[in-house]
Amino acid sequence: MIKSITGFSKLSKSKKIDWIVDTYFSNAEEAKGILKQYWNTNNNLQQLHDEFIENTITNYYLPLGVAPNFLINDTLYTIPMAIEESSVVAAASKAAKFWLERGGFKTEVISTTKIGQVHFIYKGDFDKLNKFFNQVKSRLIDDTEAITKNMTKRGGGILEIELRNKTSDIDNYYQLHTSFETLDAMGANFINSCLEQFAKTFKQEALSFDLFSEEEKQIEIVMSILSNYVPDCLVRAEVSCNVEDLSENATISGEAFANKFIQAVQIAEVEPYRAVTHNKGIMNGIDAVVLATGNDFRAVEAGVHAYASRHGKYSSLTHAKVENGIFTFWMEIPLALGTVGGLTGLHPLVKLALELLHKPSAKELMQIVAVAGLAQNFAALRSLTTTGIQEGHMKMHLMNILNQFEANNTEKEILTKYFKKNTVTHNAVIEALNKLRVSNEN
Ligand code: HMG
Repeated sequence: MIKSITGFSKLSKSKKIDWIVDTYFSNAEEAKGILKQYWNTNNNLQQLHDEFIENTITNYYLPLGVAPNFLINDTLYTIPMAIEESSVVAAASKAAKFWLERGGFKTEVISTTKIGQVHFIYKGDFDKLNKFFNQVKSRLIDDTEAITKNMTKRGGGILEIELRNKTSDIDNYYQLHTSFETLDAMGANFINSCLEQFAKTFKQEALSFDLFSEEEKQIEIVMSILSNYVPDCLVRAEVSCNVEDLSENATISGEAFANKFIQAVQIAEVEPYRAVTHNKGIMNGIDAVVLATGNDFRAVEAGVHAYASRHGKYSSLTHAKVENGIFTFWMEIPLALGTVGGLTGLHPLVKLALELLHKPSAKELMQIVAVAGLAQNFAALRSLTTTGIQEGHMKMHLMNILNQFEANNTEKEILTKYFKKNTVTHNAVIEALNKLRVSNEN
């Protein structure tokens, strides 16, 4: 039976590894070897990674790919994508190339407001609380001056603080619901610091508010935290062209393609089982760029999916229509991103990714990320409604299957050629590889 451990966090990295491999692995030396393989030989770089998180035992690499030819508002981008799934980068690249020849992507930042809340319990008369709030509001803002000074100078800061009565949901529950403009920063630390100061001031000032009874003075702060739901930090991405220009070959007319494509989007609009997969395809593009640029993909994921359910039913994030012979495909999504702070100034590959994107502002990055999501969805729907997804996906997945069966470079070369003309399935690859190995033995 495995015993628990006290003081693990205080052990050195090598002692942590010793404990892990000795406790959990039948072949401790082999496990150690694998962990070691992923260390960076540059000590400074390894130390940087060790210090990003806690209890580090090695690095976990994701491939970084690039998708060229993205024309966004008349500027050409090559988009960096950190992702492990085959065919995503190829699909993005293919969609970029398709729209490059049709005017490119048009984008617009609609709003950039972020939200944070102090959640508290107050047992008493609401009118008195409201009076207290109106009296203390300017003090709340003044007391955060040390935190907000630089952000305000740059044109951001606290936009508004509202007192929200939530007692119809939970007895005695209220909020200081606050909106912020955090410019090029994602803003999590800034917002949380402001909120924690609000909470302190609010609780302290309540103790000397004359109208409150002794019980009313005892405001209980439950927590102070930003929200990752950012429906007012919104970006729109769109592509459009004449319907007949959608056709690339004789197999399907532009009109037939548009009809099928729009049907596929409509299904995702009304059917949650489909919408989740449809939106997952969008997130293939979004997460990959969010990760490559050092942003928080969990925050983005949570916010985007909440937005997809904002009307009470989970639905498609993208929409499509044909009007007056023009096909339009678009998406509006909430994205709270930063191009300063966090990992953006620390991780060498993140810095490189941002330079590749012409050192964007947060607003520009919102537009690039939204485009990656829209392009990904276009590519997936295009495949789904024409050839089926497996053809392209399996074509890209071929190398993973060959690696799984430890194909050497000659085998890979021969089988890549063979599968240019034959359909890739897991079994077909194994069969072809076995056949090749048998014929080589004879
Ligand atoms: P294809 O037409 O066979 O590719 O498409 P091609 O060899 O003719 O090349 C055309 C272009 O595609 C290339 O232009 C590249 O831009 C790109 P070029 O560079 O030659 O000028 N391309 C590549 N880029 C980099 N590396 C490659 C590569 N191959 C092509 N190896 C392709 C093949 C996979 C692109 C196409 O079939 C496709 O777009 N499929 C969709 C794949 C997809 O959506 N994958 C996501 C994973 S599946 C999923 O998780 C989501 C899903 O469930 C979501 C949903 O249900 O909505 C599907």
